[in-house]
Amino acid sequence: MPLKHFRNLGDAGAGAVRAMLAEAHRRKAARRGWPQGAPDADAPLAGRVLAAIFEKPSTRTRLSFEMAMRQLGGHALTLAAADLQLGRGETVADTARVLSRFVDGVMLRCHAHADLEAFAAAAQVPVINGLTDLSHPCQAVADMMTVEERLGKPVAGTRWAWVGDGNNVAHSLVEAAGLMGFALCLAVPEGYEPDPGFLATARARGADVRVVRDPDLAVAGADVVATDTWVSMGQTESEARIRALTPYQVNPLLMARAAPGAVFLHCLPAQRGREVTDSVLDGPQSAVLDEAENRVHAQKAILLWLFDRL
Ligand code: CP
Ligand code: NVA
Repeated sequence: MPLKHFRNLGDAGAGAVRAMLAEAHRRKAARRGWPQGAPDADAPLAGRVLAAIFEKPSTRTRLSFEMAMRQLGGHALTLAAADLQLGRGETVADTARVLSRFVDGVMLRCHAHADLEAFAAAAQVPVINGLTDLSHPCQAVADMMTVEERLGKPVAGTRWAWVGDGNNVAHSLVEAAGLMGFALCLAVPEGYEPDPGFLATARARGADVRVVRDPDLAVAGADVVATDTWVSMGQTESEARIRALTPYQVNPLLMARAAPGAVFLHCLPAQRGREVTDSVLDGPQSAVLDEAENRVHAQKAILLWLFDRL
């Protein structure tokens, strides 16, 4: 079997992502009410160890990979990049070669996407993107799963709005729209547009992906409204940035323009009162806690695909 990586959703492709979503729904239902640490009945990754390396902070990604490996019957080692020799200048490639002799797979959260690419190029085991400055594909799988649960139908054909910064999380949703066939309209201020490469790829796949300035326009009739922090990890907060993004707050007035029963998504952590009001984040349309929980179920499906168990 050729070595697989999950650097972006495109590494898997539409068929595998569809299979991941089905597997995530199935495994979530099969263990409802069980203690969190109990392994799934088939423990498909028994004996496997994943190293999860973090160059940036994390709550959800860290916890969900640890719990995902445990529920699949395997084990996760969580490592802070600063504690490894990586933090003292050992190269990414050397670290990848060495870890490949110890563990069965690696999840990497880092700043430069090029470092993730370099790690994957040198690794002899599957490598997962646990968020880079460019993209966050694991989040996109959990987001699609959450929307399918809430709307009770596949994401294909649904209409999504992104409001705010055209960032890493937005890029993976653009990629998801292209692969899975949902429409995505992004309302972003000038200078905060998503990467043109992601837009071009999604459009080449036939996706209806648009970039507009007006949040009202993006949200009108949408089934899903998503946003994220205005200052991502590694970015510096500036007055100009906050001023540009202030008209892009998701509040009850904006949500009222979406379709009745529209789902609100935020990958978290949120800056309450900034990109989203408390009333929306804690309101009935918000799916953010399901979205966080679904990181575990999504991660399990991604891991199973990587280890050829899907
Ligand atoms: N959504 C997400 O990736 O959260 P963490 O930064 O807490 O992992
Ligand atoms: N865009 C955010 C996502 C955090 C999960 C960041 O990169 O900090």
